[in-house]
Amino acid sequence: MNRVTDDPSNDFFFEAYDRENIAYGMQPSPELAAYLSQTGAKASTYTQRPKAIDLGAGAGRDTLALAAAGYDVTSVDVSERGLDRIRERAERADLSERIQTVVCDVRELSMEANVYSAVIATTVLDHIPESDAPAVWNKMSASLTDHGMLYAQVHTTEDPGSNQSPGKESDQPVSETAGAVINYFRPNQLVGWACDPKSKLRVLRYEERLEWDTTHGAPHQHGKAVLLAVRQGFHPEWFGQPAAFPRPEQD
Ligand SMILES: C[S@@+](CC[C@H](N)C(=O)[O-])C[C@H]1O[C@@H](n2cnc3c(N)ncnc32)[C@H](O)[C@@H]1O
Repeated sequence: MNRVTDDPSNDFFFEAYDRENIAYGMQPSPELAAYLSQTGAKASTYTQRPKAIDLGAGAGRDTLALAAAGYDVTSVDVSERGLDRIRERAERADLSERIQTVVCDVRELSMEANVYSAVIATTVLDHIPESDAPAVWNKMSASLTDHGMLYAQVHTTEDPGSNQSPGKESDQPVSETAGAVINYFRPNQLVGWACDPKSKLRVLRYEERLEWDTTHGAPHQHGKAVLLAVRQGFHPEWFGQPAAFPRPEQD
């Protein structure tokens, strides 16, 4: 693995993660939180804790939720400051022994096949050049176990920070960290990758939407695509988000 310099001037997100109110907050991605709350009890019944990897983990809002749900998590990011904040938050939540932080560019990361029960990439495939993103996606999907879940989120061309239509025509406020997004996904692009037979995935949920972010800087809008998928043949207890027809309470 390539180590990345910890010089703050090379870390685009240093200041965002250095604040008292850390950018992106502590709420995990909603679809991931819903999946964990519906299937999380299963993770705690494994004899060995299932493994998760959080690519572009930032300051760890998804990492912490995975660890709390019973996973052993590897959090990967190029931002040393983000990973510092993860370790700090993990210690406070008494979850340090479940979290390993790795400073690495996701493009350089080696990921073994069939290892992770959860593969998370919350806005990182859009932070690398379009020509590099498919190789990272292929590693992600190959590294899933037969009972694996993959969650990916990317900015889309609907984002007001995008230099493509329709985002570039939007008059809505743009994120202070939009400069780090260099690969806005086109409509259906992410779900197209998930539906490619080579990915061997089954889509549980896919959505393209506009959302508001109030966790950092001035409130601003995002165009996002969110994907929750599992290995083909795996049928976890997924009732939708929000749960459409959950199992009735049992005594
Ligand atoms: C918008 S933030 C999202 C952070 C976190 N996933 C979240 O949702 O709170 C994007 C993160 O991706 C990281 N990142 C960008 N390019 C990367 C790369 N090539 N390899 C690893 N991490 C990268 C950034 O340092 C940043 O922490």
